[in-house]
Amino acid sequence: MNILIAGGTGYIGSHICVELLESGHDVVVIDDFSNSKPDVLESIYKITGKHVKFYEFNVLDEEKTESVFKENKLDAVIHCCAFKAVGESVQKPIEYYTNNLMTTLVVAKMMKKYHVPSIVFSSSATVYGDPEVVPLTEDCKLGVTTNPYGATKAMMERILTDVQFANPEMSVTLLRYFNPIGAHESGLIGENPKGIPNNLMPYIMKVATGELPELGVFGDDYDTPDGTGVRDYIHVVDLAKGHVLAIEKYNTPGVHICNLGTGKGYSVLDIVHAFERVNGIKIPYVIKPRRPGDIATCYADPTRAKEQLGWVAEKNLDDMCRDTWNFAKKQLL
Ligand code: WQD
Repeated sequence: MNILIAGGTGYIGSHICVELLESGHDVVVIDDFSNSKPDVLESIYKITGKHVKFYEFNVLDEEKTESVFKENKLDAVIHCCAFKAVGESVQKPIEYYTNNLMTTLVVAKMMKKYHVPSIVFSSSATVYGDPEVVPLTEDCKLGVTTNPYGATKAMMERILTDVQFANPEMSVTLLRYFNPIGAHESGLIGENPKGIPNNLMPYIMKVATGELPELGVFGDDYDTPDGTGVRDYIHVVDLAKGHVLAIEKYNTPGVHICNLGTGKGYSVLDIVHAFERVNGIKIPYVIKPRRPGDIATCYADPTRAKEQLGWVAEKNLDDMCRDTWNFAKKQLL
């Protein structure tokens, strides 16, 4: 198939490019490098021996986006271009709502105009809010999102669901990611946020490289086994493989919703200790107050992904820690 990845040079998009190319698909990418670098394209080529067809601009530019739909006979779109920093979204709500919602509308409009039948959307477990029960199945109630970033993900889901209702021939897939971490085993692509990271694993990585002195652990008084927050960490390569299967299997009309998580919850300290053990590096940390908006525990019930896509996460926490450090050593030291 010929697949457009909007946001294809970002952390998740770049891993999806690799898995699609290695599965024999053709890939078209639009990205404006707002949260990535041009070298990623070279890295994708080094890993796969194949090129993506690349366009540099923001999908908000409707005219340019239309020219991509005109020039390429697309079979499907993977929509993963979005601003994604929770804290920043509180400071810049207008930018977040504009970028995340408008890009979704432009993509949907062009799919309708050029009869592209299928879209896979990068959603997030954040749409469940503070879970009433864990593990989370796709039938769990959607929760109240506590920040503009989360609100945009819930709204993007809603937009695409409404578009599918009005265009019943379309296939809309909402993939709800849990906590993607790790990097490609080549160490050529991975996550390297600019400045001080918001997310746990990039922060640990920067403590390991010496760029930051110590990790702040946000709260040790949650109702969890060791008091620190519990999440479902998923290797980004497993996540990317889930997209290949979703593109290939969710090709029937309708709205398909699927969690991508491992079903296992690990605490902040589990992650710290696993990283230390696997990589032989000490990660100094201090306990800090809880981070506003954080929840105690969140992990997936991944049964649907197994039943409907034949997908199960193959990589474990040790792989995630090893691959993160391998990427950091190759790219940052
Ligand atoms: C994980 C755990 C923190 C940093 C958020 C978004 C979600 C998604 C991923 C983005 C929590 C603790 C973290 C630190 C810490 N989307 N922590 N010290 O909060 O589960 O999810 O990011 O693209 O939508 O909500 O992930 O990695 O920030 O935090 O103690 O410096 O680590 O409190 O328990 P989170 P995270």
